[in-house]
Amino acid sequence: MTIDPSAYAYPDAPRPWVRATMVTSVDGSAQDADGVSGSLGGEPDHRAFTIMRSLAHVVLVGAGTARAEGYGPITRRDLDAELLGDRPAPTLVLVTRSLDVPAGLRTEGVAVVTTNGADAEKSLVLEEAGVEVLRHGDDDIDWPGVLDAFSTRGWDHVLAEGGPTLLGELLRVDVLDELCLTIAPTAVGGPGPRIVTSSETQPRPLELADSTVVDGVLLTRWLRVR
Ligand SMILES: NC(=O)c1ccc[n+]([C@@H]2O[C@H](COP(=O)([O-])OP(=O)(O)OC[C@H]3O[C@@H](n4cnc5c(N)ncnc54)[C@H](OP(=O)(O)O)[C@@H]3O)[C@@H](O)[C@H]2O)c1
Repeated sequence: MTIDPSAYAYPDAPRPWVRATMVTSVDGSAQDADGVSGSLGGEPDHRAFTIMRSLAHVVLVGAGTARAEGYGPITRRDLDAELLGDRPAPTLVLVTRSLDVPAGLRTEGVAVVTTNGADAEKSLVLEEAGVEVLRHGDDDIDWPGVLDAFSTRGWDHVLAEGGPTLLGELLRVDVLDELCLTIAPTAVGGPGPRIVTSSETQPRPLELADSTVVDGVLLTRWLRVR
């Protein structure tokens, strides 16, 4: 199995580049029969995922996905050492309004993006555990403000790992630059969500930048046409 990491090099951009990675079955389910997505794309998706993580400065994930998929902080062991070089492992940034952060993520190397109105006590507990809490926006998260804060920290390569609610929001506010979509060679039926969940229909034109079949799994990259 060969996947060329250079296909995933981040471009130079005037603000942090927001890449999302998602996997879907052929019939459009973002979940496998077991209710999570991790197993859908098999080894090729896993390898592409590792490459993308190894090139990212920050991994952004919705709290629903972190809870469903048992996320932990990202360590060098999870990454491709050659691609990572001597950079630190990317910071895991959890997106949450409730600040109900799984116990395994209440630790250093994790940051949280939330709103100004988020619970002050929960925030304090997280900060005492070494979690950086970034508050941007009153009712909803102010994404341009978040990306400015990322830029200040040198977090210019953003990898959003979903889930569908977070991806819907990134599309709604139109900060998504690239979608790396894996299409797994299976149809699963069932009530699984699409890769995007949102209440508003807002078309965002995309153009195909790359596609390759690896061991029967289709890996695609789509760029937002601006
Ligand atoms: N197919 C794939 O590639 C893929 C990828 C990832 C996940 N998934 C699957 O998707 C399912 C989870 O879906 P989901 O839609 O619940 O996932 P999600 O987007 O990861 O989580 C939703 C939660 O994240 C927080 N959140 C997301 N966007 C926010 C925003 N803009 N502002 C404030 N909070 C925000 C909220 O957390 P609080 O409730 O804490 O406020 C919200 O309840 C799981 O089954 C997972 O396996 C599939």
